[in-house]
Amino acid sequence: MNVLVVGGSGGIGQALVSFFCNAVDIETVTATYRSNKPSLVNEKLKWVALDVTDEEAMAELFASCPDLTYIINAVGLLHAHEGKPEKTINKLDPDFFMDNIRVNTLSTLLIAKHAKPALKKASRSVFAVLSARVGSISDNQLGGWYSYRCSKAALNMAVKTLSVEWKRTLPNCAVVALHPGTVTTELSAPFVGKKSGAKLFTSAQSAGWLADIIVDLQAEDTGRFIAFDGSDIEW
Ligand SMILES: NC(=O)c1ccc[n+]([C@@H]2O[C@H](COP(=O)([O-])OP(=O)(O)OC[C@H]3O[C@@H](n4cnc5c(N)ncnc54)[C@H](OP(=O)(O)O)[C@@H]3O)[C@@H](O)[C@H]2O)c1
Repeated sequence: MNVLVVGGSGGIGQALVSFFCNAVDIETVTATYRSNKPSLVNEKLKWVALDVTDEEAMAELFASCPDLTYIINAVGLLHAHEGKPEKTINKLDPDFFMDNIRVNTLSTLLIAKHAKPALKKASRSVFAVLSARVGSISDNQLGGWYSYRCSKAALNMAVKTLSVEWKRTLPNCAVVALHPGTVTTELSAPFVGKKSGAKLFTSAQSAGWLADIIVDLQAEDTGRFIAFDGSDIEW
């Protein structure tokens, strides 16, 4: 079994890479980074540089990974030098909004566009995407974070739509969105603290739970939005 982790340099992504490198039934792990190649080394592991907004580079990546069992997209953007999540609508910045869409939504659509041939050989495969509970429309109680919420809600629609298409054309593949919990990474760092009240997990904890979910998924699970504890989240 071969695994691809897109965004393997992130907090949760790198913990997923470690998990699968240590799993006995996994033969190879390909992991991508954008800027700095992580120092993690393993005989199963190959690092590939990839900007997820670059479709040509995406096509090249899949040309070098012809046979995959699990594809996991762990990239994400919540804040950057150029912007941070909006507390109110008057803070909305069109460029920051589009950056969120490019990284949080479009990346998954581009991966799916080029990944299908690589998933065809496996008798059971998984296409898993790290979404976020804040992308659930029915769960939205607090408001705010327009760019991130909208990009994750659009990601959820992309996952659901892909699951419908691949049910017909790639019936062995489970396409799912996963919520990792609130995890102590660079992405969450400015927003977690005693005041946030959120229960915090380490990347290793969250990745362990998510990986356990991924290895148990069956084709009939396709189209689910699943939290780290295995419960379903309403879209
Ligand atoms: N942490 C949480 O509490 C939390 C909660 C809910 C959902 N999530 C979701 O979980 C996922 C992982 O989050 P995390 O906390 O592990 O974040 P993180 O540590 O900030 O990692 C983000 C990853 O995204 C990559 N990335 C961003 N823009 C990219 C681009 N244009 N091209 C290629 N890679 C790009 C980064 O690559 P480089 O580092 O190489 O730049 C990094 O690998 C995200 O989708 C996030 O929305 C996280």
